[in-house]
Amino acid sequence: MIETGKNSIRLTEIDSTNNYALQLLANGKPLEGTVVTTAHQHSGRGQRTAVWQSEKDMNLAASFIFYPPVPVADHFLFNQSIALAVHETIEKILKQKTDIKWPNDILVNNKKIAGILIENSIRGNQFLYAVAGIGININQKQFSSFTPPATSFALENNETFMVDDVLHALCRNLNKWYTALCSEEDELIHNTYLQHLFRYNELALYEIEGEKFYGTITGTNEDGRLLIETYEKGMLVLNLKEVKFVF
Ligand code: BTN
Repeated sequence: MIETGKNSIRLTEIDSTNNYALQLLANGKPLEGTVVTTAHQHSGRGQRTAVWQSEKDMNLAASFIFYPPVPVADHFLFNQSIALAVHETIEKILKQKTDIKWPNDILVNNKKIAGILIENSIRGNQFLYAVAGIGININQKQFSSFTPPATSFALENNETFMVDDVLHALCRNLNKWYTALCSEEDELIHNTYLQHLFRYNELALYEIEGEKFYGTITGTNEDGRLLIETYEKGMLVLNLKEVKFVF
């Protein structure tokens, strides 16, 4: 039984909790579920070379270490279980409909409230480790302009939240969804992911290489690619670099 967060490393300040976790893994084998958190992450990393900005003491920046006992081909199932844990944490605390924007951004009211950066190391068909870096905007009220725009618990609810309460809830939900992954509850994971997927089965606007078009997300394949059904081009099977959501 995994107990995420039982082994906890709290840093006053660090460039990136993911960098710190990767360094721990380069030097040894930390306990599964180890979490690295910091009150001040000054060079947070986002997906695809983006930066992740977070004001000191305001938000949750956490990196969790896992050794997923599943074949590498199931990497997207692992991603979905992490996204579901973050989704459930936010939806339960905010008591507001929360969506997962493919592959693993978390949105409330069409605005991004949390981001996930997963960094894996694999050998052959096995995971050597996976670091799940999770940033949740909690008490910050001002953000640079992004697409989609950023939001936080405080902006959505006009209240201040304890960052540690969110961390504890997140640990409980990670235990739940990581256990589902380890118990091969693949259908439960995928169906719940689709249930919360932003724009699932809705006609909406997308962009590929500067060209905008309407399409409907019909699902994701096992590899984690997004399936968009279009009138003109039929079914598109897309990876992250290929498609932009138009807001
Ligand atoms: C994204 O949406 O682009 C992913 C953002 C991930 C941010 C988190 S904060 C904790 C961890 N450390 C990092 O440097 N990044 C992740």
